[in-house]
Amino acid sequence: MKDYIKIDEWRIIEEGFDPHVHKISESIFSLGNGRMGQRANFEEAYSGETLQGNYVAGVYYPDKTRVGWWKNGYPEYFAKVLNAANWVGIDIQLDGEQLDLAKCEVSDFRRELNMKEGYLKRNFKAKTSSGKEVEVETTRFCSMADDETGAIKYKITSVNFSGIIAITPSIDGDVRNQDSNYDEKFWDEVSKATWADGGYVQMRTKKTGFDVATGMKFNITVDRQPVSNIPKPATKDKYVAATVNVQVQGGQSITIFKYAANLSSQNHPADQLADLTKATLERVAAKGFDTMLAEQAAAWAKKWEHNDIIIEGDISAQQAIRFNIFQLNQTYTGEDDRLNIGPKGFTGEKYGGSTYWDTEAYCVPFYLSTAPQQVTRNLLLYRYKQLGKAIENAKLLGFDNGAALYPMVTMDGTECHNEWEITFEEIHRNGAIAFAIYNYVRYTGDEAYLGDYGLEVLLGIARFWSQRITWSGDRQQYVMLGVTGPNEYENNVNNNWYTSTIAVWCMQYALEVANKMQAADKAKYDALMAKIGFDTDREVARFKDIIAKMYYPYDEQQQIFLQQDGYLDKEQILVKDLPATQRPINQKWSWDRILRSCFIKQADVLQGIYFFEDRYDIDTIRRNFDFYEPRTVHESSLSPCVHAILAAKLGDEKRAYEFYLRTSRLDLDDYNNDTEDGCHITSMAGTWMSVVEGFGGMRVRDGKLSFQPFLPGKWASFSFHIGFRGITIKVTVSKSGVTVKNLSGTDIALLIYGKEQSVKAGVEEVFGH
Ligand code: BGC
Repeated sequence: MKDYIKIDEWRIIEEGFDPHVHKISESIFSLGNGRMGQRANFEEAYSGETLQGNYVAGVYYPDKTRVGWWKNGYPEYFAKVLNAANWVGIDIQLDGEQLDLAKCEVSDFRRELNMKEGYLKRNFKAKTSSGKEVEVETTRFCSMADDETGAIKYKITSVNFSGIIAITPSIDGDVRNQDSNYDEKFWDEVSKATWADGGYVQMRTKKTGFDVATGMKFNITVDRQPVSNIPKPATKDKYVAATVNVQVQGGQSITIFKYAANLSSQNHPADQLADLTKATLERVAAKGFDTMLAEQAAAWAKKWEHNDIIIEGDISAQQAIRFNIFQLNQTYTGEDDRLNIGPKGFTGEKYGGSTYWDTEAYCVPFYLSTAPQQVTRNLLLYRYKQLGKAIENAKLLGFDNGAALYPMVTMDGTECHNEWEITFEEIHRNGAIAFAIYNYVRYTGDEAYLGDYGLEVLLGIARFWSQRITWSGDRQQYVMLGVTGPNEYENNVNNNWYTSTIAVWCMQYALEVANKMQAADKAKYDALMAKIGFDTDREVARFKDIIAKMYYPYDEQQQIFLQQDGYLDKEQILVKDLPATQRPINQKWSWDRILRSCFIKQADVLQGIYFFEDRYDIDTIRRNFDFYEPRTVHESSLSPCVHAILAAKLGDEKRAYEFYLRTSRLDLDDYNNDTEDGCHITSMAGTWMSVVEGFGGMRVRDGKLSFQPFLPGKWASFSFHIGFRGITIKVTVSKSGVTVKNLSGTDIALLIYGKEQSVKAGVEEVFGH
């Protein structure tokens, strides 16, 4: 755990340059706009430890799988988020001596991520080994208003020397992924050109054939006067640059405005990319940096209007929640249904592909409440469009009749995970995809989605489960053999309670939706059944039989759901009795020892209780929570939020707050010692859930929003906005009660602490605790 980030309500601030935390800061200070993003790499050269990262959403490379022991059914490729051309580079030479913070004496270093207005700022003074001193101030952003563009303002002032500063803005496509399996580079050059004040490189991904043109246009001023020196272009493989030599005296400043554009063949014809890139650059440069920055601030103001959570009385918590919301918005804007939310977003390479069950299980609630309905719908459509691939994926593993198994990790619908215990066994992910459909419809009331798209996905998933179970002659029940639950510290277990529970729920829900649709629109229902070859009599009977005769492990003595068969055979040790030196166990113990231990990586039984809480009475929830919580090591960032929400439900406010703290500053304080790989973007949605569903106790009940809030002891108040069925409300929880302000033109009926209430359009009402 580290605590070098300064506390501020709206800004993330680092003061002083410490190369040891540079990679962590490169992650934390990342920028993005949903279409592209980048780590906070320096503009000028840096020969110290760094992870270079520029990413273009949806552009990936299928790296050939590398495993020790090939298993039939493994995918051939692992689709990776690609490190793309670096557009931030501005090399600086001071009379031939390169500015490189790894080789200079650095002072007054300060980095600031302004979350309110969406830009990254950096200041420092540097003294080279020969004693030349400069002062630098840079500001840059990925434009939210114009999402194929970005801009940099780089101001360099000579403190003590007179001479030539050579400035070389560049576009460098000669980049690599650190996680390349065979040390290959993934891009080929298609074309490049330099212009008097810029240039571009068009690159093509190997195998997938995505073209991306990345271009720059720059202008330079000295003491605010344009520099007339003719830039000297330089090109090499996959690289364009131009050098401008500027004579300076001590005290003089040079400012470089660098505009960048990143256009991909996903959105434009490949053969027009070069021209379009140039035109885009002309357009944004004509606007100018200040106008672009003002547009950026306005775009972010619009986001914050509906996304912000305001915490009074705890600046650290305020900063943290805003950081989480900021990063989620930088990662996914929901305008394009081909895109999704990678666990690391645009902040690092780890986790390869972009889509995990994290999206459906953790991110959907955030986007449902804070973004237009279309955004979550696009997330669902992403999976709908990949149904064919999910069916192929199941076929590859031996299933048939339209059974669909969605991948553990994917970019385009193809599975790209390759560890058998996860690829073949962590199949609970299929359930989360069905649950997200249910969650979306429950929240939005958009029943039409079910008929148009949802039911087809639900039946594919239900068919998979109906084939994946086994009839146990011994038990005279159906069982689910050889699975890995959300707790990845157990592999190949039989009858993981969570997996069996969600599997059966999927079949129930698919049947419920099918019945509804049959009654509401028989012709449409018949057409769908014909399309997917659904044998209603036979398949429905099978689903019903499984629903009636499924086996779920249960411990009668303690009256708890058993995580899986045999869980109680394990030595029952509690996390509190583990010496701190042994944790995290995934870094300290052998895998064998982890598998044999009772320790739980992340919410498993409790994940199921969280999803289906209305099925269980409070004593059942408490017994399970009291049993599983003390055995959970939370070594997945996705875990504490579920525990926070359940602790809040159980009235354990102190614990709820403790779990919240673990997620909210996870990256800012490098809690798990891994932020340098990138930020935990998907678990950031979990942090939001801890506040809104945990402290706010928000649920949807019978088509209405319901709140059961409490105020964490340290806070004076907290408030958040919720968008629900076309209405936006602001909920404030303070010592004096719960205030609901209806910001829309329609009245809203709500449940507050279980009581029906109504808030008229435009009115604010206060309800006591
Ligand atoms: C978790 C998974 C999760 C993945 C990506 C893993 O550590 O165990 O549940 O899907 O990270 O966030």
